Amino acid sequence: MEIETSSGGNRGSRNGGSDWAAAAKKAVAHGGDDGLERGNYLVWEDLTVVLPNFGKGPTKRLLNGLNGYAEPGRIMAIMGPSGSGKSTLLDSLAGRLSKNVVMTGNILLNGKKKRMEIGAVAYVTQEDVMLGTLTVRENISYSAHLRLPTKMKKEEITDIIEGTIIEMGLQECANRLIGNWHLRGISGGEKKRVSIALEILTRPRLLFLDEPTSGLDSAAAFFVVQTLRNVARDGRTVISSIHQPSSEVFALFDDLFLLSSGETVYFGEAKMAVEFFAEAGFPCPRKRNPSDHFLRCINSDFDIVTATLKGSQRISDVPNSSDPFMNLATAEIKAMLVEKYRRSVYARRAKDRIKELRCIEGHETKTKKGSGASWWKQLKTLTKRSFVNMCRDMGYYWLRIIIYIVVSICVGTIYFDVGYSYTSILARGACGAFISGFMTFMSIGGFPSFIEEMKVFYKERLNGYYGVAVYILSNFLSSLPFLVAVAITTSSITVPMVKFRPGFIHYVFFTLNIFACISVIESLMMVIASLVPNFLMGIITGAGVIGIMMMTSGFFRLLSDLPKPVWRYPISFISYGSWAIQGAYKNDLLGLEFDPLIPGDHKLTGEYIITHMLGIKLDHSKWWDLSALFVILICYRTLFFIVLKFKERASPLFQTIYAKRTIEKLEKRPSFRKIPSFPSKRHQPLHSLSSQEGLNSPLH
Ligand SMILES: Nc1ncnc2c1ncn2[C@@H]1O[C@H](COP(=O)(O)OP(=O)(O)OP(=O)(O)O)[C@@H](O)[C@H]1O
Ligand SMILES: [Mg+2]
Repeated sequence: MEIETSSGGNRGSRNGGSDWAAAAKKAVAHGGDDGLERGNYLVWEDLTVVLPNFGKGPTKRLLNGLNGYAEPGRIMAIMGPSGSGKSTLLDSLAGRLSKNVVMTGNILLNGKKKRMEIGAVAYVTQEDVMLGTLTVRENISYSAHLRLPTKMKKEEITDIIEGTIIEMGLQECANRLIGNWHLRGISGGEKKRVSIALEILTRPRLLFLDEPTSGLDSAAAFFVVQTLRNVARDGRTVISSIHQPSSEVFALFDDLFLLSSGETVYFGEAKMAVEFFAEAGFPCPRKRNPSDHFLRCINSDFDIVTATLKGSQRISDVPNSSDPFMNLATAEIKAMLVEKYRRSVYARRAKDRIKELRCIEGHETKTKKGSGASWWKQLKTLTKRSFVNMCRDMGYYWLRIIIYIVVSICVGTIYFDVGYSYTSILARGACGAFISGFMTFMSIGGFPSFIEEMKVFYKERLNGYYGVAVYILSNFLSSLPFLVAVAITTSSITVPMVKFRPGFIHYVFFTLNIFACISVIESLMMVIASLVPNFLMGIITGAGVIGIMMMTSGFFRLLSDLPKPVWRYPISFISYGSWAIQGAYKNDLLGLEFDPLIPGDHKLTGEYIITHMLGIKLDHSKWWDLSALFVILICYRTLFFIVLKFKERASPLFQTIYAKRTIEKLEKRPSFRKIPSFPSKRHQPLHSLSSQEGLNSPLH
């Protein structure tokens, strides 16, 4: 069977070959992608998604045995009432289902059953996630530089950026900030268009969009869908869920997948849907928008509306005989339509086409995943973007720098010119411990901003913008100037005011010690953010962990007195506080002499105080203590990398095991087995995809 590989030429009109479209095509060609000639055929068979319930209630089927396909050069609309499973279908196809649901069935990409890898699908989700501190143009520009091939000239990239801005109608707000918690930015509709612009920049082979027109007026919705149609016409496969489109917008779609409660009401050419409804006995009134009519037929919420109307005093207002919807419950209409579709010629056609598309085995396209930019360019662009974000976000560092200055002045005045008397020994110890062990605790304050940045990272990572290592490195490089600034301001205020041990090298050590502590806390919070991606829970967890580290730092209980199991070994060794305080004491006290308790006695040397009064051994120098802090810093950053990578690699594996076990358990339940997804189909037991083909399944 010959498969048409690019259907763009013969279906519908192109976008008049605008400059940016040509540049975008060139971008793809530069990246070594042969996508203009070959597209991606996506087929799904008997796709079922269940929400297991091991309690008393029944297991909920979110999608029930769906069959369908998407072809390059065409744009498909997924329509259905709210909660019908549109997002779930898109998530299943993109391999991004949440962990608590189980999927069964086949998803074939160009005839091959495989999991959608990171970057294989460009997905515009329902929620808009982007950096609020950047302008629209900046967001699009950074995204372009992160992903377009390094070989492309600057002018070509600029053409693509400007072309996309025009295409999405963003000229007027191009230089306005997106907006965040303290900045009112662009409108919701504009944000949605920016999200789409970010994805269509690179003309992805597979483009999924979840309600791209929500919040847009009808003209804007029309332009957006027209643009998506143009993308499709370039041989791309575009699938979009859509809520109640206007008739003009609906006419732009080639195919339609109509869902209700997770079941197929109609799948086929969009323009044939009206015919199907007429054949089924529910013709679309002449002056009604077809999409409104379809949704009116299948949205069972209307039953409640009708019941309320009938039950109310305005019963006479209800036109009962003329309107079939008043006489039949929507649930019944829906059930009739589902049944009619199963037996229809459309379902048969779809099955035949699926059979054809299944046979294109070997036609696996060289899927170009993710970014075309070099590692170095990604690092440069990401570092710059992250730095700009940190500069503009008040809560990221500026607020903290101000607080550090204020607290430093407080410390400086409380311990002002602490001196060399016997009582100043305790004062110096407390002050040094406070600055290096506790003041650094304030670094926890940047956590909410970091969580926001992480959300952007997760979205961009799934869409294949860049790798985990690039992100971690760029984050560290961009934060470096701020961390240095915090350390220098703190030490420059406290050292001269308190009059710690004089000497430039001591000042440098003091600064480095603070810098290392702050960096360690930041890295620790990153690890926590990757494990607990909720800012309130993250702050509570972070505060708890840092609290334990403080307890074992040697200030509240001398290191030598800490209970040996657990607290001394290993907690105090992996606690940044103990190394920071040891280094700070050695830096300040060694070489100084203090007045004795009883006047006339020998002066107390710094060595004596450190070993006998503070319980610290002098078997290694303060520089070793500092090195230990940097080792802890590297360990945390590596742990952050491992956690992110582990989540990416291992979670599908765990998901597969979970799915297998869940299906085994569910199959034992008669209530689960009894519900046939397609009565007309031969009965097939549910197989987890993993059991069919190792881990090479799209199961997530
Ligand atoms: N991970 C999940 N856990 C529990 N329930 C889920 C999950 N995912 C989806 N659902 C449920 O499945 C149903 C379909 O959800 P889905 O988000 O796919 O609907 P939708 O058609 O996209 O709706 P909307 O138009 O409002 O976005 C809903 O009832 C939802 O509560
Ligand atoms: Mg949805």
